[in-house]
Amino acid sequence: MIDTEEQLARALEAVAGAADLKALDDVRVGWMGKKGHITDLMKSMGSLTAEERPVMGQKVNDLKRAVAASIEDRKTALADDALREKLLAETVDVTLAGTGQQSGGLHPVTQTIERITSLFGQLGFTVAEGPEIENDFYNFEALNIPAHHPARAMHDTFYFGDGKLLRTHTSSVQIRHMQNNGAPCRVLSPGRVYRCDSDQTHTPMFHQVEGLYIDKHVSFSDLMGHLEQFLKLFFDQGDMEVRFRPSYFPFTEPSTEVDVRAPGGKWVEVLGSGLVHPNVLRAVGVDPNEFQGYAFGLGVERLAMMRYGADDLRVFFENDVRFLSQFR
Ligand code: DAH
Repeated sequence: MIDTEEQLARALEAVAGAADLKALDDVRVGWMGKKGHITDLMKSMGSLTAEERPVMGQKVNDLKRAVAASIEDRKTALADDALREKLLAETVDVTLAGTGQQSGGLHPVTQTIERITSLFGQLGFTVAEGPEIENDFYNFEALNIPAHHPARAMHDTFYFGDGKLLRTHTSSVQIRHMQNNGAPCRVLSPGRVYRCDSDQTHTPMFHQVEGLYIDKHVSFSDLMGHLEQFLKLFFDQGDMEVRFRPSYFPFTEPSTEVDVRAPGGKWVEVLGSGLVHPNVLRAVGVDPNEFQGYAFGLGVERLAMMRYGADDLRVFFENDVRFLSQFR
């Protein structure tokens, strides 16, 4: 009978001598494979006697199990070695400076609009939007600015020639909102407006936020209280001086322009406001004997320039990353 002890010793020697996973696999095929030594041993058992066969079968099975186990052990050891070598070769110097990652951010105009809408949101205002291409009725007529009214000349309007125009202010949304929803209402309308004007403090397109608060008992003191509180919160300056200066707008009566005292001591106009003119309420079917309220309009870039200390409005639209990245 074949000496399986000796076979095992040979197998273990081959396994131990396998220097890498590839060599080990060759050993495995040579011993355990379909044409391997152990399969040959099995086949040769046909020539044994009936008594010898079970004894030999047991021995060959033991041999097979022992060889398989030694291959598994060697495999684990070789894999560990390979991993250790790989880790050594690939050491990372964690003290090296990183390459950094560019991250984007919201445009300062967007941030300013969000700041305004969130502050008025605390007073229950929601956002209402309207189209940028308007007609005469929504931009002028319904706002108590009839044809030939001198206020039209101040708007430097872009006309399309077919009765359509680019809205010159977001006050048009007041009209659309009340037409659709009636009163009472409390809305804020941020958006782009257009005027044919361009210099350091004017761009043909800029952003306004319009505010409208209509109810049964909204008064001029609500207007003053809300706007003063808003400006102090917007500029993060609780002791900011705010001034209400009498003014004129066709769509409000009485009207006021609101100034804040800038760091240098100068008064700077920041918004226009007033109690909504009865003609405006009538134009949208709201009864001025039942409802009243205030409206205001402000320039977003103007407020952003003051808050961030920019002195040229045009930088907001050049999209120079060096400028924009300061607002991340
Ligand atoms: N629509 C005005 C403008 O564009 C701003 C304005 C002033 C809006 C007074 C108002 C307001 O609602 O009451 O210059």
